[in-house]
Amino acid sequence: MIKHPQKNIYLIGFMGSGKSTVGPLLAKKMNRAFFDTDEWIINETGKTIPEIFAEDGEQFFREKEREAIQIVCKFKNMLVSVGGGAVVDSSNWLTLKKSGLMVYLQCDANEILNRVKNDLNRPLLSQAEDRLEKITSLLTQRAPIYEKADIIIDANNLTPELIAEKIYQKIKDFV
Ligand code: S3P
Repeated sequence: MIKHPQKNIYLIGFMGSGKSTVGPLLAKKMNRAFFDTDEWIINETGKTIPEIFAEDGEQFFREKEREAIQIVCKFKNMLVSVGGGAVVDSSNWLTLKKSGLMVYLQCDANEILNRVKNDLNRPLLSQAEDRLEKITSLLTQRAPIYEKADIIIDANNLTPELIAEKIYQKIKDFV
C-alpha cells in the first residue's frame, strides 16, 4: 500500500461494529483529532437521532450526514467515525475515498445483534419487528460496499481496545 501522509482515517461499518468507541481510542493512540458524523448531526440539530428520524425523516438525516462528510473531508489528519449508512451514497463514498484511508470494521450479524439489542438509539433497528432479520438484510445489501474499503479489520469478539490496537498496527506505516 502506498503512503497517505496527513490523510484522514475513516472508520466505516455497520451499526454496532464499534466505530464510535474505537475511534476516540485510536485517535488518542495516533495523536489525531476525533470527529463522529452522528455526533456532529446531533450537535448541529440539537436533536437525538431517533428524534430526527421521527420528526424530520430519514432523508433529512441523510442530508445532514452528507453535510458532515463535506465538512470533515476538508480537514487533514482526522480520525473519523462515519455513520453506518453514509457510504451507501456513492458520492459520499467518493468524497471519503479521495480524502482518506477507509477502514472497515467487519462484524457478523449475530455479534451486531448482541451489541445493539438493548439500544434504542438506532431507529432503523429499534423499529424492526425482527432485529436479526433486519440486520442481516441491511448487512447483505451493504457488505459489498463496506468491503471496498482500503483495509478490512475483523472486529468480532474483540474489545474496543484490541480493535484499536489491531487497526493501529495495520495502518501505522501508511498514514
Ligand atoms: C445508521 C447508522 C447510525 C446512524 C443512523 C443510521 C445506518 O450510525 O447514523 O442511525 O443507516 O446504518 P452508527 O453506524 O454509528 O450506529
